[in-house]
Amino acid sequence: MEDEHAAHNYGPLPVVLAEGKNARVTDVAGKTYIDALAGYSALNFGHGNEELIAAAKEQLDKMTLTSRAFHSDRLGPFTRDLAALTGKDMVLPMNTGAEAVETALKIARKWGADVKGVENGKQHIIVMDGNFHGRTTTIISFSTDEEARAGFGPYAPGFSVVEYGNAQAVREAITPDTVAVLLEPIQGEGGVVIPPEGYLAEVREITRENNVLMICDEIQSGLGRTGTTLASQYEGVEADMYTLGKALGGGIVPVSAVVANEDVMGVITKGTHGSTFGGNPLACAVGHQVVKMLATGEHQKAAAERGKQLAEGLEALVGKGLVAVRTRGLWAGLDIDPELMTGREACEKLMENGVLAKDTHGSTIRLAPPLTATAEDIDAIVEAVRKALGADA
Ligand SMILES: Cc1ncc(COP(=O)(O)O)c(C=O)c1O
Repeated sequence: MEDEHAAHNYGPLPVVLAEGKNARVTDVAGKTYIDALAGYSALNFGHGNEELIAAAKEQLDKMTLTSRAFHSDRLGPFTRDLAALTGKDMVLPMNTGAEAVETALKIARKWGADVKGVENGKQHIIVMDGNFHGRTTTIISFSTDEEARAGFGPYAPGFSVVEYGNAQAVREAITPDTVAVLLEPIQGEGGVVIPPEGYLAEVREITRENNVLMICDEIQSGLGRTGTTLASQYEGVEADMYTLGKALGGGIVPVSAVVANEDVMGVITKGTHGSTFGGNPLACAVGHQVVKMLATGEHQKAAAERGKQLAEGLEALVGKGLVAVRTRGLWAGLDIDPELMTGREACEKLMENGVLAKDTHGSTIRLAPPLTATAEDIDAIVEAVRKALGADA
């Protein structure tokens, strides 16, 4: 590999990619693979999506950056339509997912101080065991993954970790100073962990009763991945704040956002938060195109249909090398029999069989192909998993 000057913060599979079109990518030697990771869902609309590339190219020729010191003609339409898509009033655009989460935490704390009346410095936020919200110092402070956390102290105070999927644990952790509960509707990095039916609705009820904000981190689960625009819509839950990212940038530029109603977002006033690149015209042009594509419902429908196909194919492999499969929309967590091989070994075998995927936590693999993948792509993924496991056809 030729990236020995890059810091060693990743352990990539030994493949050097050069080109991509929809769900297919090609390495420097000309071998083609199906991208079943899709940039951790940043490529929900595939590589080189024509509508997105056209939107980006058009904006590149006009203007790319203004900074928020001035207005741009792209911010208004993007934020208006993203707010409408998510059923909220206001959008605060940022760049990366971790920045969106940091922004949501800041909004929650400020709301706690200014609206709920919690003494500044006492604001308390409840988070979940097995969470993944990014890599900043504050966010890793409440990670339960020692690899993400060890050696990076001192850790930010003000967070309590409770068991994911256990609404009673949320109730018990609430104090008069609690301002928010932050959770992923489905834990992506955790291995596509789906909470028990009714959990999200119950957390919504508990947070409402206790005047606590519910923040759903939909950075990986949102924007069509699970067959609905937001994964939390599966239980008809409306959170107070959503964090969005990854697919919002169309696989082209980093675009993230926090969306909320004015009673919450209104605590952010001039000078209290910002980002040089957040809401730049190029990001807005691409993000707006993503929003327009999701507004048709077509990609959510595709996620549900292709997801059903993927789920059926994978479920047939349970007991034949797979211990368990969890799916929602076009998103799957596969637990490989640890006696057979590690998740990493399974990914290497998948690669030999023309599919790129990523292991997470020992023997789990996550599959998240583009929502634009074809039925043949999905069949090829299932077939590659079968071969990697050495299961009979
Ligand atoms: C749920 C969730 N939140 C936040 C993030 C962080 O996003 P980023 O890597 O863009 O900072 C991720 C990334 O995997 C994520 O899955």
